[in-house]
Amino acid sequence: MYQKFDVVIVGSGGAGLMAAMQLPNASVAVLTKVYPTRSHTGAAQGGVAAALGNQEEDHWKWHMYDTVKGGDYLVDQPAAEILTREAIDAVYELEHRGLPFNRTDDGRIDQRRFGGHTRNFGEGPVRRSCYAADRTGHMILQTMYQSAIKNEVRFFNEFLVLDLLINDGQACGVVALEIKTGEIHTFHAKTILFATGGYGRAWRVTSNAFACMGDGMSIAYRRGIPLQDMEMYQFHPTGIYKVGVLLSEAARGEGAKLLNGKGEYFMERYMPVLKDLAPRDIVSRCIVQEIKDGNGVDGKDYVYLDVRHLGAKTIAEKLPDITDFARNYLGVEPITEPVPIQPTAHYAMGGIPTDVDARVVIDSQWTPLPGFYAAGEVACVSVHGANRLGTNSLVDLIVFGRRAGKHMAKFIQENDFVPLPENHEEYSREYIDHLYSSTGGESAAHIRSELQNEMIDNVFVERQDAGLRHALDQIAGLQEAYKNVQLQDKGKRFNTELMEAVELGFLLDCAEATIHGALARTESRGAHFRLDYQKRDDVNWLKHTLAYRGTKAHDVRLDYKDVILVDDPIFKPKERKY
Ligand code: FUM
Repeated sequence: MYQKFDVVIVGSGGAGLMAAMQLPNASVAVLTKVYPTRSHTGAAQGGVAAALGNQEEDHWKWHMYDTVKGGDYLVDQPAAEILTREAIDAVYELEHRGLPFNRTDDGRIDQRRFGGHTRNFGEGPVRRSCYAADRTGHMILQTMYQSAIKNEVRFFNEFLVLDLLINDGQACGVVALEIKTGEIHTFHAKTILFATGGYGRAWRVTSNAFACMGDGMSIAYRRGIPLQDMEMYQFHPTGIYKVGVLLSEAARGEGAKLLNGKGEYFMERYMPVLKDLAPRDIVSRCIVQEIKDGNGVDGKDYVYLDVRHLGAKTIAEKLPDITDFARNYLGVEPITEPVPIQPTAHYAMGGIPTDVDARVVIDSQWTPLPGFYAAGEVACVSVHGANRLGTNSLVDLIVFGRRAGKHMAKFIQENDFVPLPENHEEYSREYIDHLYSSTGGESAAHIRSELQNEMIDNVFVERQDAGLRHALDQIAGLQEAYKNVQLQDKGKRFNTELMEAVELGFLLDCAEATIHGALARTESRGAHFRLDYQKRDDVNWLKHTLAYRGTKAHDVRLDYKDVILVDDPIFKPKERKY
């Protein structure tokens, strides 16, 4: 089937929907492999950061400082300025579209504390996170989806995108599998936005939804576009033990504390000023250190999140969802018992490189690929650097989703359709046919679980050369096995086994780029902590990694790109002290 739109947006989370809102006079299709309100943005809990100053004095420049410092100075600083300045207006846009934020007594948007967000350039915690209980992402999705329906955006639900089409140096469409029928569709467009989210399912313990399989990153990578800073992967400190489901940092923002097996609130020992509200990379490392020191609960690999002292009323009003998660997944009553937690794979700081208008750039010289945009977790505009601050993901979605939409609106005025390349469905059809006809005997589920175990064992909060090399070898083996994946279900309609097999290919690509980048980066910075190179090395490594898919099997070519700094001494890279 063939369809033609001015704009095709792949992904129906916050970034995709915010972009769609900016295109009132265009024909816009949103393709999503889930139902829109099930997109992973809905899992974001604690809030969206913006220096509104509703609870206490705040400034976008303090927010920018925290973002740059939190990211361990791998942040492109002009992009961080845009993020933090435009956050304020973008949050008001959400409010005006009807988002039911919690309110202050005088009716303004309420704000709470989150890790790494400070007043006056690091003096102490500030209330910057605008929130709707602990379901802020859910509320963003519901609000935006309603706006999109009102704006007559066309939704293609349960379409799995397989390929990006490029002709004459310009992006011009995508090919997708309709999950309901098994049919292949071509969507021809003047411009395409990838807003497909991250790849947290590459780890066994993850906060990410089943949909977070690295689709957009892998599809771009296969088309010769590099992936930037993939070694910078965030582990959120408080995932439910073994399950990974998120217990929002909002809990610590409201005063909850981490407790070890000896009954000590241990963060006070490591971070005397910010304590439990230090940035996530630091808190995750402290938890791992406690466990290594034998201070896990019963000597095991977990500690506790303690909300008991907040009292039943605050818990019910501010943290209703996450406390229900503890009850449902662990059978623990958070009002009276501490909740077992461990770091969980949470967020990709890296992704498809873009400029501040969300245009995809394909090399270290910032050359754009006309017509192709990316925003949200799939993209790396590099506002998060080596470690994202909590609540900066939702603001990234709305600020850069909006900028993407506005730039695409201009692009479609100034450019015509580029013809599709010849045989444009061939790659996708062959890929799917191969999976249907393979008799190789390998199981996608088995390969995926091997991958997830390897990533937890060797590409986790702490890394080192031997483990990363082991992971590379293992992934190469899994990629070979992947060629022999055999489906048990040969049906066309709702073939979820086929879908999972395709997604596994995406995950393997993302893992490959992550490990190569991590092995090469012989320093520790943000979420990338090397036991064998424990210091940050600005002389050699104040630069972004670009990982290109190699021409030979399992080969990855690495290139590097400068980090962009602004000319203001307050943002000059320095030791990150809290
Ligand atoms: O802890 C949380 O609520 C997560 C927020 C985020 O990742 O930004």
